[in-house]
Amino acid sequence: MQATLIASLLVSTAFGAVIEDRSFLPQCIQYDDNYDDLTASLVPLTSPVGTYHGLNYGGFVVATPAPLTGGVEAQSAPNVAAATLQTDEIQLGSLSLQPFGTISAAPGTKAFDLSSFYFGCFLNDHTAAAVVSQGCTVAVTGFYLNGAQAPEVTFAFAPTSPTAANQVLATLPITYSGLKNVTFGVAGASVLAAGAGINVDNLRHCNYV
Ligand SMILES: *[C@@H]1O[C@H](CO)[C@@H](O)[C@H](O)[C@H]1NC(C)=O
Repeated sequence: MQATLIASLLVSTAFGAVIEDRSFLPQCIQYDDNYDDLTASLVPLTSPVGTYHGLNYGGFVVATPAPLTGGVEAQSAPNVAAATLQTDEIQLGSLSLQPFGTISAAPGTKAFDLSSFYFGCFLNDHTAAAVVSQGCTVAVTGFYLNGAQAPEVTFAFAPTSPTAANQVLATLPITYSGLKNVTFGVAGASVLAAGAGINVDNLRHCNYV
């Protein structure tokens, strides 16, 4: 009798502890940003991605690469998020980047994990008839909620075709968790032609709300 009571007390204590621990485990909501439910305009620069799945996309527009002639194809057709290289360099901690764009936790999102994205680089000089792919190395950095900087990660893109290259998968390390923002750019010393752009698709993130 006494032994049964002790056993049941132990069980309820253990159970209670499990419940309590779970309540402290952060839950996040997974998203796969493919931009396909957004409207791309024919002049791409007029349709910003804006706020999408709890993230604020700065510098990115919704674009539809033309099949077989758009330079870099969407990983999931029809749309990508595209950003062109900005002319100013920005200092991010010890890093100097020429940015393409940023994504930040939008109001209502406390922080996010960035797990992966597909990307490719292109050249759009507005004089050629078509957009062409070009090789690039994209640098990614970010900031945690406490203001500390995430380590820089770089991803290389080597196009498989000038007019219809496949995007490549970039997988972030586990350290890209609990972020408030992320910047995509090229290292200050890298050389890319003017008119260079990046397009991104199937960006996987998990939001803490
Ligand atoms: C990202 O967060 C850092 C640290 O708080 C801040 O200095 C920087 O301006 C932010 N960048 C963007 C694009 O929000």
